[in-house]
Amino acid sequence: MELAVIGAGHVGAVCAACMAAIGHRVRVVDVDEERIALLRAGRSPFFEPGIGELLERGRTRELLSFHVDPAEALSGAALVFLCVNTDNGPDGSVDLSSVESAVRTVSRFARDGSVLVNRSTAPVGTAEYIRSSSEELGGSSVHVAVNPEFLAEGTAVHDFLEPDRILVGAWDQEPISRLAQVYAPIVERRLPSDLRALLGNGHRRSGEVPFVVTDPASAELAKYASNSLLAVRVSFINEIAGIAEELGADITKVARAVGLDPRIGPHFLRAGIGWGGSCFPKDIVALQGIAETRGLSARMLRAANEVNTEQRLWTTRRLQSHFKTLFGRRVGLLGLSFKPGTDDLRNAPALEIAAQLAQANVKVRALDPVVKAVPPGFEDKIDLLQDPESMARGADALVLVTEWPEFAKLDLPRLRGLMRTPLLLDGRNFFDPDQVRAAGFTYVGVGRARDDAGVVLRLPDAEPPAGDDEALIVATAARM
Ligand code: NAD
Ligand code: UGA
Repeated sequence: MELAVIGAGHVGAVCAACMAAIGHRVRVVDVDEERIALLRAGRSPFFEPGIGELLERGRTRELLSFHVDPAEALSGAALVFLCVNTDNGPDGSVDLSSVESAVRTVSRFARDGSVLVNRSTAPVGTAEYIRSSSEELGGSSVHVAVNPEFLAEGTAVHDFLEPDRILVGAWDQEPISRLAQVYAPIVERRLPSDLRALLGNGHRRSGEVPFVVTDPASAELAKYASNSLLAVRVSFINEIAGIAEELGADITKVARAVGLDPRIGPHFLRAGIGWGGSCFPKDIVALQGIAETRGLSARMLRAANEVNTEQRLWTTRRLQSHFKTLFGRRVGLLGLSFKPGTDDLRNAPALEIAAQLAQANVKVRALDPVVKAVPPGFEDKIDLLQDPESMARGADALVLVTEWPEFAKLDLPRLRGLMRTPLLLDGRNFFDPDQVRAAGFTYVGVGRARDDAGVVLRLPDAEPPAGDDEALIVATAARM
């Protein structure tokens, strides 16, 4: 089918490359000329596993092209996918100006009878608004549908081609039928064999992908509810992690035991330094605002957000309790991106931690496998280095911020030998504590008994153990 995509960001570029990979002719338009120039040259503007291969595949098969002129991209398309940014304004409400300008573009350049599909995350009522404003604009007459995107960065290509579900919200049958046609190879799991090879065997699933059809408002709300519930789960486990840390329990063991209950499941129960990224922070605040402006309380959303704000202080608090004063300390951050598999720094916990530490006069160094520059405003706060040795030399602490698999290969004994103080804060419970301790470090994980906390397992009226026995009990508690 002939398709157009408006917006060549993380969602637009991945959708376009994947839709071309399953045989559609896809034209992408963006107002960002630099981004379009990069994509035309076959280069992705962001790091995402598999995207490079798909861009190349689309280009050589002449199924994928990038444009700055909307007329070129839209005039022949049977469906136009809207993948534009919907960031929050300063008051937390969703800024729909990019959606509005894209709707004007569609009204001017799309052909009559085409389907305008909103994939951007936007408040309930946006599809209705798009439909009425495109009628008011009086240009091309289009069908409107909502088709929320559920891909996660770092696994975006896999998530698009092997989704858990495809959700469509529409008022009439025409957009539903056309979207069913677009996604048929994905729903029926008929991906070309070379695409299967790109995804790898580990991802192979069986049975049709659920193609869920609802009214537009339900589809819009389902997107916010999905992201919010995932964020709530992480905040919940982080709250339990705080309790575990205090009581000498190990949150990784707690989460495993809890997640084995099929009614709960194991996902999004990894405790850490808090969630970030381009979506959870903005979407949970947006949904809270949507509820509160209608006089509804959004207590769960507010609490999840508060827990996350608090969790973002974990690193600084642990460093403060270890060193007492932070002035002049040198701290190395392992990882800058908000999660592994991406170079996205939007709402990255690392940036917030770096800002807190810089405020306390700590010299912050960082190392990241894919981030090659710090964002504007952080040039004087973060010294981005290229090798672990330079980061460890003379440092007082290392903090694992992003669980990049590359960090599992670090030569910890060597790094410890270069450091001024051997402290390792594991913000993602990524390392094996025993290996870190064996390398000579003091290990502090999230929601785990702390080497430096002196947890003593002793009943209040028990006889205090003598001499070295107490150290033995402390050490045993930390290792359990
Ligand atoms: P992005 O900011 O990376 O990209 C948006 C692109 O749209 C930009 O390149 C921008 O220049 C372009 N654009 C804006 N207005 C335009 C217009 N009128 N005409 C042409 N181009 C225009 O955003 P993103 O991360 O791709 O996210 C897009 C939407 O998808 C958001 O609503 C987001 O919440 C949602 N979403 C994002 C993800 C993700 O992982 N990033 C996942 C699911 C859903
Ligand atoms: C998330 C959702 O997972 C996607 O389904 C959704 O489409 C997307 O938002 C979106 O709407 O943009 P993403 O933000 O790319 O995807 O990344 P996640 O893997 O969900 O992680 C979000 C944050 O939660 C990260 O900071 C991650 O480190 C943190 N997290 C995740 C935890 O701290 N613990 C966990 O167990 C899982």
